[in-house]
Amino acid sequence: MATLADRIRRISEMTIEEAEHLRTLCSSWQVLADLSFSDLLLYVPMRRADRFEVAAQIRPFTSQTLYPQDMVGTRVTQPEQPIVERSYREGQIWSQPEPVLVDGVPIRMDAVPVRYKGKVLAVITKEGSPATSRRPGRLEQVYLEAAEYVSHMISEGSFPGPRMPGDWPRIGDGLFVLDETGRVRWASPNALSSLRRLGIKQNILGRYLGELGLGDTPVEEAFARSITLDGELERGDTYIVLRVVPFIDSGSVMGGIVISRDVSEVRQKERLISVKDATIREIHHRVKNNLQTIASLLRLQARRLNSEEARSALQESVLRISSIALVHETLSENPSDVAEFGEVVRRISRMVGEGLISPDADIQVSVTGACGAISADLATPLAVTVTELAQNAIEHAFVGRDSGRIAITLTKISDHLVVRVQDDGVGIEESALQSSRLGLQIVRSLIAELGGTFEVTNNKGTRAEVRVPIKR
Ligand SMILES: Nc1ncnc2c1ncn2[C@@H]1O[C@H](COP(=O)(O)OP(=O)(O)OP(=O)(O)O)[C@@H](O)[C@H]1O
Ligand SMILES: [Mg+2]
Repeated sequence: MATLADRIRRISEMTIEEAEHLRTLCSSWQVLADLSFSDLLLYVPMRRADRFEVAAQIRPFTSQTLYPQDMVGTRVTQPEQPIVERSYREGQIWSQPEPVLVDGVPIRMDAVPVRYKGKVLAVITKEGSPATSRRPGRLEQVYLEAAEYVSHMISEGSFPGPRMPGDWPRIGDGLFVLDETGRVRWASPNALSSLRRLGIKQNILGRYLGELGLGDTPVEEAFARSITLDGELERGDTYIVLRVVPFIDSGSVMGGIVISRDVSEVRQKERLISVKDATIREIHHRVKNNLQTIASLLRLQARRLNSEEARSALQESVLRISSIALVHETLSENPSDVAEFGEVVRRISRMVGEGLISPDADIQVSVTGACGAISADLATPLAVTVTELAQNAIEHAFVGRDSGRIAITLTKISDHLVVRVQDDGVGIEESALQSSRLGLQIVRSLIAELGGTFEVTNNKGTRAEVRVPIKR
């Protein structure tokens, strides 16, 4: 899907930076649609200079839309939209002197030039129907006045400002209007309700938000630097985020607005989730500790045995249990219930290397590739599998040799995970595959349970390959 900036550059002669400015504008212009109770259309000049194309559109939340249909892609000429052309050419805001009738509905329309670094790039039209607009009261008056400022800033090139944050709260969530010193001149009913939830009962009009002593209200800084800034008020379990937008006219701050939104519910959910995450991590940590305890108990027991066979059987169990412990260790370090499997395999290769390779043998184990995070129920059997295969290579591939290489590779192919353990040793005998010993049988049954395949072939040594589907 083409982005808005791409689309604009296809229609119009514009640099990437200029198209990017229009894109940023369109991620912030809901505020203008809501304050002006208007539909907004962005007209960009086409390469053929006398035509404009609608590149983006937005509808107001505060009023009925005039355009239930999609307007993007509509082209107009100068006679059809004289004020768009005029506003573009003269770089000034123009209003239709009289409401025009469209399908019998009177529409008032303003055209606002979009300026960037001194150049007019495009034109926004603000269109509303006087007939359907709400009964004008103080709120409407205040909104429309603020809309005038925002329009003016767009035409001057100071809106959207540099590094303006995305994700705007809605005007309807709460609005404070500030005078040029930052004092509250007016507050919407929703804004006042949110203050009441914070325990503020006294009159806020004529006071500064910062006086409330409820946290970070960056009005002063936003006004001093003439930029939009975010802040937050909090008390107890109530959190209100703020966005401060100073109104700038020819470089001076003339006042501003603060849009507020109650995010207490969201915060509470985030807190619950993070507590849950921490609990899950803690459980994985304890499981890991328990498995390590079991492994060391078996190790102690192995030392007391006289039979070589019994001792090596216990030692293998120690490795198997330890590889499962490694999965839980990795999970205990992750915020979610998935394990970075490459990390698990690296730890396994270190563990079997340290435990099984005698210090004077030159055997190197390498791990390459990545497969990202996989769920715990897949990671555990795969960890045991990798342990068995790496252990086999160390124990059987290099008999009578003093050096060898073992390469473990991980690949993700669409919805499959492929784990390959390749050594450059003596190779495996056909009969060994039917052996009644435990290692390969464990691998076969674990992989079958995951619905995967397991193959051992001779290829300049032994190549064992496991392929399992990754479930969603
Ligand atoms: N990488 C390898 N190179 C050469 N031979 C191998 C290799 N892997 C396995 N084999 C042969 O296959 C046989 C079966 O392997 P398997 O892992 O099932 O048993 P094991 O390693 O002998 O015993 P266990 O794993 O139960 O301790 C091994 O005994 C060995 O002869
Ligand atoms: Mg084995």
